[in-house]
Amino acid sequence: VDGSPVDVFGRPMGALRISLTDRCNLRCRYCMPEEEYAWLPRQDLLTFEEIEQLTEVFVSLGADKVRLTGGEPLLRRDVPELVRRLSGLPGVKDLAMTTNGVLLARHAESLREAGLHRLTISLDTLRPDRFTSMTRRGTHGEVLAGINAAVATGLTDLKIDTVVLRGFNSDELAELIEFGKSVSAEVRFIEYMDVGGATGWTPEKVFSRAEILETLSQEYGSCEELRKNDTAPADRFRLPDGTVFGIISSTTQPFCATCDRSRLTADGMWLRCLYAMTGTDLRTPLRSGASHDELRDLITGVWQQRRDRGAVERVSERANGQVFVSLESLKRDP
Ligand code: GTP
Ligand code: 5AD
Ligand code: SF4
Repeated sequence: VDGSPVDVFGRPMGALRISLTDRCNLRCRYCMPEEEYAWLPRQDLLTFEEIEQLTEVFVSLGADKVRLTGGEPLLRRDVPELVRRLSGLPGVKDLAMTTNGVLLARHAESLREAGLHRLTISLDTLRPDRFTSMTRRGTHGEVLAGINAAVATGLTDLKIDTVVLRGFNSDELAELIEFGKSVSAEVRFIEYMDVGGATGWTPEKVFSRAEILETLSQEYGSCEELRKNDTAPADRFRLPDGTVFGIISSTTQPFCATCDRSRLTADGMWLRCLYAMTGTDLRTPLRSGASHDELRDLITGVWQQRRDRGAVERVSERANGQVFVSLESLKRDP
C-alpha cells in the first residue's frame, strides 16, 4: 500500500490480530493456568463500530490480513455480524478466525455466510481424557462437532493448531495428521512457547521442530519442506503421501526478522509484538472523536518506532540463563 510505514528493521505492517474478548470457556494449562480471572468489564470492550473503524485505518496502512481471536472469539455476541462488516471492507484481503471450536457447531454456517475466509481450530489431542486434563473442561466432543460442522457448511480453508508438549501429546502426531486428512484440514504443530506466569513452561516440555520432523519421518518417510512465499509463522512440509502440514517453531527458530503482525486487545490496546509488555491505547483517541487521518498518523508514528523481536530475545535470554517475567499479553490474547 502506498504510504505504508516500515519499522526500524524495515518490516512493513501486514497482519492484524484482533481480540474480541479476553474471556475463554476453556482453561488450557499452557495458556490460562488459573481457574478464575478478573475479566474486562463490557464497557471497556471495543464495539463493533470501533473495531470496524480501526480496521479501516490499519488496512489503509497495509495490514490487509485480519484475524479474529480471543480469549475465545465466539463468546462475543453476534460475531457473524462483525465478520459481515469486516469482510465487506474494501482492502481486507484475508479475514480469518482462531477458535477453540467449543461453540463452533452453532456458528459455523453463519460465519461462512458472513464471509469468513479461513478458520483455524485449536485441537491438541484426539483423546477425550487428555483434552479434559489439559483444558480442565469436558468439551472434547463439542470441538469435534464444531470441526465437522465447519466442514459440512463448506468452510474450506480449515487449519488445526496443535501445541505439542512432550509427555502430553507428542505421541499423537501421526493420529492428528490422519484426523486432519479426514476433515481436509492442514494440521500445524506449534512449539510450546514460554509465556511466563503459572503456565508451567520448561525447556524439557518443548517438543521441537526437529523432533516433530523426525517423528513424522519415522512414520511416513521423509518430509519435504515447501518454499515459503509469505510472512506467515508456519513452515510447511509435504509427506510422501502428499499430505501438507505446518510447524510453527516460535521457540527454537523465531521468525521475528520478517514479522509483520501486530495485535489489538479487546479493550483497544495495540501491541506491536506477541511478547510486548506495553502497547498504545487506541480506544481513548477513538472515543474522543479522533478522525481516520489522526488515527492513521498516530499508528504510523508508533510503527516507525517498532523494534520488537520478542521471540528472538527470549532465545538469547535463555542462552544467558535469565529468568522470565510474566507475559500477560499472550495469556490474554494467544
Ligand atoms: P495464518 O498464518 O494467517 O494462518 O495465521 P497464524 O498462524 O498467525 O494464526 P494462529 O492464530 O493460528 O496462530 C498460530 C500460532 O502462531 C500461535 O499459537 C502462536 O504460537 C504463533 N504466533 C502467532 N502470532 C505470533 C507472533 O506474532 N509471534 C510469535 N512468536 N508467534 C506467533
Ligand atoms: N505455546 C504455544 N501456543 C500457545 N497457544 C496458547 N498458549 C500457547 C503457548 N504457551 C495457542 C493456542 C492456540 C493459539 C491461538 O495459541 O493453543 O492454538
Ligand atoms: Fe482458551 Fe485458547 Fe487459551 Fe485454550 S488456548 S485457554 S482455548 S485462549
